[in-house]
Amino acid sequence: MGYNIAIDGPAGAGKSTIAKLVAKEKGYIYVDTGAMYRGMAIYFLEKNISPEDTETIAADCKNVKVTIGYEEGGQQVYLNGENITGKLREEAVGNMASKISAIPAVREALLGLQRDLAKTKDVVMDGRDIGTCVLPDADVKVFLTASVQTRAKRRFDELTEKGETCDLAEIEKDIEERDRRDMTREIAPLRQAEDATLVDSSDMTIPEVVAAITALCH
Ligand code: DC
Repeated sequence: MGYNIAIDGPAGAGKSTIAKLVAKEKGYIYVDTGAMYRGMAIYFLEKNISPEDTETIAADCKNVKVTIGYEEGGQQVYLNGENITGKLREEAVGNMASKISAIPAVREALLGLQRDLAKTKDVVMDGRDIGTCVLPDADVKVFLTASVQTRAKRRFDELTEKGETCDLAEIEKDIEERDRRDMTREIAPLRQAEDATLVDSSDMTIPEVVAAITALCH
């Protein structure tokens, strides 16, 4: 069993930035489980299957193979052998991932891959249900959050920096909608594990958050 650090929290809380830095500092592997759901989402988007068509999706899951590789210094995601890392961050992909992640067969298809990685390696794994469901015995569990306003502003700055035009109010609405969907789904909803440490990053710098988490590791 590797040393396992689980970081859960809502969209835009900075999980991936923080998890990557913690992994680097500890010399562990960073596992982005959201990217796995995004990989699945790309498959169904490309096949033009509606997220409401849960029966088709459940039946088709067996044909989707999402795998993870580590090259060029980071996690690469493969969908049935094709490297799709470059497409993962698209807005439509995130929304589709949030929708299909409520389907039990989709979660089931990814659970084994996530547990296998944690079994054999020291990992920092981020997602929504890592501390509650995927790795209930993780050595360290963190629930990383920030206010909706802070998360929306961070996303707005990120997109503006990329030269994209966007609307702050709309981003805020999207985040609230995604939170609601992730927290109210029946299976493995986003919630803080009882034994997780709550870290609210609204008024913290990135190094402060990283330090707060590494201080929990023994
Ligand atoms: O963290 P992210 O934005 O890349 O995740 C995309 C979606 O995937 C998110 O809205 C919910 C889903 N997800 C999940 O259900 N469980 C996880 N462990 C990770 C992500």
